[in-house]
Amino acid sequence: MPFSDKSNSRFNLFSMLAEADSPIVSSSTLTEKLGVSRQAVFKLVLALREEGLEIESIPQKGYMLKSFRESDALSPTLIDYLLREDKIFSKCLYIHQVDSTQQVLKKLAVQDAPEGIIAITEHQTRGRGRQGRDWASPPGRNLYFSILLRPKLAPGEVQLLNLAAGLAVRAALSEEYGVRAELKWPNDVLAGEKKICGILSETAGEPDRVYYAVTGIGVNTNLPREDMSAEIVGTATSVLLETGKLTPRPLLLSQIFTRLSALLEVLTGDNGKQKLLATYRENCATLGKKVRVIEDANEFIGIAEDVTDQGAIIVNIGGEKKIFAAVDVQHLRLI
Ligand code: BTN
Repeated sequence: MPFSDKSNSRFNLFSMLAEADSPIVSSSTLTEKLGVSRQAVFKLVLALREEGLEIESIPQKGYMLKSFRESDALSPTLIDYLLREDKIFSKCLYIHQVDSTQQVLKKLAVQDAPEGIIAITEHQTRGRGRQGRDWASPPGRNLYFSILLRPKLAPGEVQLLNLAAGLAVRAALSEEYGVRAELKWPNDVLAGEKKICGILSETAGEPDRVYYAVTGIGVNTNLPREDMSAEIVGTATSVLLETGKLTPRPLLLSQIFTRLSALLEVLTGDNGKQKLLATYRENCATLGKKVRVIEDANEFIGIAEDVTDQGAIIVNIGGEKKIFAAVDVQHLRLI
């Protein structure tokens, strides 16, 4: 299985090149510290290059890693390196092309895979969205990843994971890139009322216990308008469109994980659910807005007032408060 393991030589070689005091690291330093031959070092360098990392061989001198923070390669070694201090997310499983990263992790989840695994891909052939919709997943431009969690939550509380994921993405996009990102209940991150990120959690469990949750996140990152499909071009945006700049995907990924780990730690701590909900209430752009709620064939219009302890939305419809759990809402203008 193509896991990048933090204890393996590839990871160690990468760390040595990334953390070296001088840009070029001699072959003898590498062979000595890794305890392997020159030939083995060369093979490791080739493997890292295959992951898309730029490592130059300088004749008679050694190896030099080009700035990895600017690399857009979805290299599992680079991602593991960027997440090296993360307490929850540590192992990255990279698959070049896959039907859906959700499927990958759901299969691993039933084989007792541990919490914290990330599955990431360049291209999904059957990317899944909420409510059985497709998630447009063209190659090479965006982030498509899923995470495996084994939360101590009741099945009805799994929506809290979506709220945490949305908060993490919103914060990363606004704090690191200046994107005016907003949270639309339940799981969308918008910029200028257009969708920049979608989140989907799928779970298995018993009535009182969750065995696992697989939370999938798709962020439109470097997607230009001309590459957007007809279905999404009117309603989607990307980090590129919002900032005018290309964003290195591994860096954005790590910035999301830093925040998501912190939020999940809050969630599992004392009074965690209430703390997370308080942060969500502060950040959810839907609250206070006039919304249209679409539930099966029915449509309701009202003011979104609050979220319940399980993350469902409370809408005031002509004086009557109605709770909706798994529906779509549209923001409307207050007239
Ligand atoms: C939505 O409808 O807004 C949710 C979209 C979730 C998309 C992500 S991309 C990574 C993961 N794999 C999938 O097939 N879906 C999720």
